[in-house]
Amino acid sequence: MNFAKVSARAHTNIALIKYWGKKDDALIIPQNNSLSLTLDHFYTDTSVLFDPDLTHDTFTLNNVSQDATNVSAFLNIVRQKAGIPYFAHVNSTNHVPTTAGLASSASAYAALALAASHAANLSLNKTELSRLARRGSGSACRSIFGGFVEWFAGTDDQSSYAAPVPINVDWDICMIAIVVDKRHKKISSRAGMQRVVATSPYYSAWIKQSYADLDAIKAAMNANDFATFGQIAQENALKMHALNLSAHPAFSYFEPESIVAMNLVEELQQQNIACYYTMDAGANVKVICQQQDVAKILAHLSQHFTADQLLVAKSGPAAHLLSN
Ligand code: PMV
Repeated sequence: MNFAKVSARAHTNIALIKYWGKKDDALIIPQNNSLSLTLDHFYTDTSVLFDPDLTHDTFTLNNVSQDATNVSAFLNIVRQKAGIPYFAHVNSTNHVPTTAGLASSASAYAALALAASHAANLSLNKTELSRLARRGSGSACRSIFGGFVEWFAGTDDQSSYAAPVPINVDWDICMIAIVVDKRHKKISSRAGMQRVVATSPYYSAWIKQSYADLDAIKAAMNANDFATFGQIAQENALKMHALNLSAHPAFSYFEPESIVAMNLVEELQQQNIACYYTMDAGANVKVICQQQDVAKILAHLSQHFTADQLLVAKSGPAAHLLSN
């Protein structure tokens, strides 16, 4: 059998309706559906070459050799599907503006799923790729697609995958990432969501509310109502972070600078500028807005943050193969 080196690019995504908790930890089946926007600016390029002469998998990130344990565990799934025993060279580059702390497991595993499956001569359709990417990191299943994407929670490996949201909106949507923290996560998303599912007394309310938020955000998209859309996304993120405060032991991803960022966005809202914040498993704040308002929003945020802390992204494309 012949193996060629295959390279792929996948863009990161930011959830507007969050995934925060698993039904099945091993297969990464989430508790609720989620909805995201894939971004153009932040992406991962990964190349994979299966090599019959290798004795173990190798993995470099940004040209630096890394522990390959997680990559190997993911490649085992690919090897099993393809029926091949060979190890691989995996090289990844994260294209995230300098040390922004926005490197994401979503773009990483989506790029790895696409490159590794092709390198193993598997031909998977997009749904199959999404299922495969999910096995690396839940949010990665959404990065197989561009634009607005929904992850259907499902109940097992077959039924848990993402697909584009079939709604056209008129918005020239942007996301401004406010980089407030360059340190490592205090608690990983995996550990954080596990603790919340196990200990938050509000968890069942979150599941119920996240489906209500999902219906409402889709209705706002159908109605082309950007203000309602943004408000729902902002409140959904706050509910996710409220769960963390209600866990035992409690934890939070908020840093003082995150609160400063959120307050600045609220000031803009009081000036009737349609911008809304969201936050994930880290201290950075992302501002959902439209291109027409970006200059005004940046001017206001610049009162406190420097230009290199403010990164503007737009809607991004689906994962795709690169020519080597
Ligand atoms: O897929 P993970 O383990 O990176 O978890 C992602 C969790 C959030 O980013 C907080 C929410 C989401 O839906 O992306």
